[in-house]
Amino acid sequence: MILLVHGDREYLLAPGDELQTDLGVLDVPEDASPGQRLETHLGEEFVVREPRGPDLFNHFERTGAPMMPRDVGLIVGHTGASATDRVLDAGTGTGVLAAYLGRIGASVLTFEREPSFAAVARENMELAGVSDRVEVRTDDLTERLDSLSGFDLVTLDTEDAPAVVERAPDVLVPGGFVAVYSPFVEGSRAAVEAAREGGLSGIETYETIQRRMDFGDRGSRPATAGVGHTGYLTFARHE
Ligand SMILES: C[S@@+](CC[C@H](N)C(=O)[O-])C[C@H]1O[C@@H](n2cnc3c(N)ncnc32)[C@H](O)[C@@H]1O
Repeated sequence: MILLVHGDREYLLAPGDELQTDLGVLDVPEDASPGQRLETHLGEEFVVREPRGPDLFNHFERTGAPMMPRDVGLIVGHTGASATDRVLDAGTGTGVLAAYLGRIGASVLTFEREPSFAAVARENMELAGVSDRVEVRTDDLTERLDSLSGFDLVTLDTEDAPAVVERAPDVLVPGGFVAVYSPFVEGSRAAVEAAREGGLSGIETYETIQRRMDFGDRGSRPATAGVGHTGYLTFARHE
């Protein structure tokens, strides 16, 4: 897949597709490459771009509320997620976190209990070019924990995450991390209590706040528009 970019307009297309907009019609060449400039029949110019994580966040079909790139970044930074990692993830939802981890090169097994969501997530993994590394399994993770072990990282974005956190030592390799995203602080507290119950170490919770800066003619300051808070991230470690 490629992106065609014109100003702040973007279209995700496959080579060979036809783009039809008010800017004209454009046939995407089979060999379209990043940086190439293509013109519609009305002479409007588009630049070809290869989609990366934030582009996929914008263009994936959405089901479960996708994780924001800033939260993905904190998970990767805090846990050191890398290309040699085996990651267990739930729930897949839209698959933003799973796709980012796949693009890093990690092998991801992600559980989604809602079959229609899992089907969309598989298509999103195709779009992201990571379906060889990210397996979307249609199932409830809490019911499959007995058969899972040897993961470097467990990432959870579900209401029932505490039930998995408590069992994390059975699923993680020594030194492995569990990371829990919670939209509400009550969810974080439950995750922390489960981590304590499960005997995990290094238990920490952070609120994610990000402020964009505006550089105007009169001066520079944090943007006054927009919500900086996204959620809470709890991390813990097995041994
Ligand atoms: C908020 S979304 C996850 C979004 C995802 N992290 C992303 O970046 O796109 C939560 C998803 O978890 C699924 N889910 C909740 N509990 C689950 C469980 N125990 N096992 C598997 N999937 C679960 C829900 O169906 C929902 O699609």
